[in-house]
Amino acid sequence: MNSKHPESITAQALGWVDEATRAITPPIHVSSTYIRDADNQYRSGRIYVRDNNPAFDQAEAVINTLEGGHQTLLFASGMAAATAVFQALQPGDHVLAPQVMYWSLRNWLMSFARGWGLDVELIDMTSPDALQRALRPGKTKLVWIESPANPLWTVTDIAASAQLAHDAGALLAVDSTVPTPVLSQPIALGADIVMHAATKYLNGHSDLVAGTLTARADNEHWQRVRKVRAQIGGTLGSFESWLLLRGLRTLHLRVRAACASAQRIAEHFHGHRHVAEVLYPGLPGCQGHEIAKRQMRGGFGGMLSIRVRGDGRGGEAAAIAVAANTALWKRATSLGGVESLIEHRASVEGAGTPAPPDLLRLSVGIEHVDDLIADLEQALAR
Ligand SMILES: Cc1ncc(COP(=O)(O)O)c(C=O)c1O
Repeated sequence: MNSKHPESITAQALGWVDEATRAITPPIHVSSTYIRDADNQYRSGRIYVRDNNPAFDQAEAVINTLEGGHQTLLFASGMAAATAVFQALQPGDHVLAPQVMYWSLRNWLMSFARGWGLDVELIDMTSPDALQRALRPGKTKLVWIESPANPLWTVTDIAASAQLAHDAGALLAVDSTVPTPVLSQPIALGADIVMHAATKYLNGHSDLVAGTLTARADNEHWQRVRKVRAQIGGTLGSFESWLLLRGLRTLHLRVRAACASAQRIAEHFHGHRHVAEVLYPGLPGCQGHEIAKRQMRGGFGGMLSIRVRGDGRGGEAAAIAVAANTALWKRATSLGGVESLIEHRASVEGAGTPAPPDLLRLSVGIEHVDDLIADLEQALAR
């Protein structure tokens, strides 16, 4: 266990120095294959890049240290990481996932995962009672949670969910993309697997797609996850691994800045005459605020949503117009970059979305918070 503060771990990427050159940033390894020893052995431990790329080593080690895990694996995207957790299960296994979660994974679960034979059930994951009722001891193999969850930022009690899942013989996996290890460490709260869309905060610059999984311990399921990555091949490229490591060095600065601004923005627009509701776990009245205070440290994340008042023309039209009229906030999907993004979420998610039609999702970047507030104010006033 590394005893340094997390900021020191990320800033220096664990302090590694390239042995060959004494460089303080790693080279980009691009070789796809490695020389076998003359006696037919592979003593380097490297055989072929799909399974084992030295470009992964530092980023995996940094994330693993931050999460306090047994092992971390990089994947080609957040979706490649998340789906590997389910692909490592067996047809017929029962799986519980939240009704409110990242929409693309929910769609995949309802189509491909079900088609492949997983018995997927969506429940209100914010209610430990609902989880308790839905668990089928011996049959439920995995509980998947996301906290705070897209796009309503509902909070799930990770420790309580872990306890209930374990009592029923199931694993608990947590999509921790939004809080990042800066604010929340699910493994310390009992989770078995932590997943990140590293596309978002871990990289932080909207210039790559990547995913990660961290396991609390080695077990049969994790061995299968490793095989899924190696055999299906959802592995990250060398340049993307290098970029991710560079982004990680400033993770704490970026997340703290985004959190502080998101809190200010949430408080500013709470009770605003053009805003029906602000959804943000940092607001005392919002769902899960007390749990978030316990399981998030130093902030409530950089993501929030606002519901725009229709004032006669309907909330949906008003929300779309507000997004169209912002200048500093960029109208785009995704989250966790240094630039602030605004999005009419129901348009993206389509049928079955839990996002009300008047909802705008805000990903707060690191611009000056006064400029962000002023831009939203003028867009709401138009
Ligand atoms: C919370 C969350 N999980 C998973 C994903 C999927 O990540 P990726 O786009 O890297 O596949 C996203 C992407 O938006 C996300 O927001």
